Amino acid sequence: MTDFSHPIFARLYPRLDAACARAGGDAHRAELLAGASGRVLEVGAGYGANFPHYPAEVTEVVALEPEPRLRAKAGHAAGRAPVPVTVRPGVAEDLDADDASFDVAVASLVLCSVRDPARALAELRRVLKPGGELRYYEHVRGTTPGKRRLQRYADVLWPYFAAGCHVSRPTSELIAGSGFTVRDERRFDFPDSGPGNPASPHVLGIAIRD
Ligand SMILES: C[S@@+](CC[C@H](N)C(=O)[O-])C[C@H]1O[C@@H](n2cnc3c(N)ncnc32)[C@H](O)[C@@H]1O
Repeated sequence: MTDFSHPIFARLYPRLDAACARAGGDAHRAELLAGASGRVLEVGAGYGANFPHYPAEVTEVVALEPEPRLRAKAGHAAGRAPVPVTVRPGVAEDLDADDASFDVAVASLVLCSVRDPARALAELRRVLKPGGELRYYEHVRGTTPGKRRLQRYADVLWPYFAAGCHVSRPTSELIAGSGFTVRDERRFDFPDSGPGNPASPHVLGIAIRD
């Protein structure tokens, strides 16, 4: 696997995310996973912020994380999770999993960072059972010309400071164009910090593998 080491990001992200959690991020993660069941694949699990939110109906979570320091933290979080979680190295674009082997796939704040989102979505589709769910919580391209312009400018430097994250990705449209049918999706700004935050447009949704 290519070197995914981002030591500064790995140290800062859990602290930044803790602030987001208090501002409503924890509730978003709970909403993301409410009603999930069966075998789950989570890609780019970070330090395991979703783990406490998996419902008891989930029988197993396989959580992939390519960044070594975040993966180690996720390993600790797995030990405290309410359901069985196995943490492994791996990237979303090249999943070491059989076709149609998962009931649910989870992508939270990760499709902005993968190097090839179309390939990642094709892989997620491949490993989901027909009718399986892609549950996603992502920051996405804005809807207004002003926000989109801000995001294009931000993306010149943003990926260097945020471990490859891009704020202008049209993730929602990419999901809909990758063999998924969007069942539920809601859009909102988070944190609600006005027009100056290029990463504020978010989506939270469930798409079904066709
Ligand atoms: C902003 S963090 C989000 C972490 C976690 N999903 C969450 O909701 O807190 C983005 C994560 O994506 C991971 N990542 C980056 N490129 C990836 C790839 N190609 N495949 C899987 N994960 C990747 C990073 O290492 C990082 O953990």
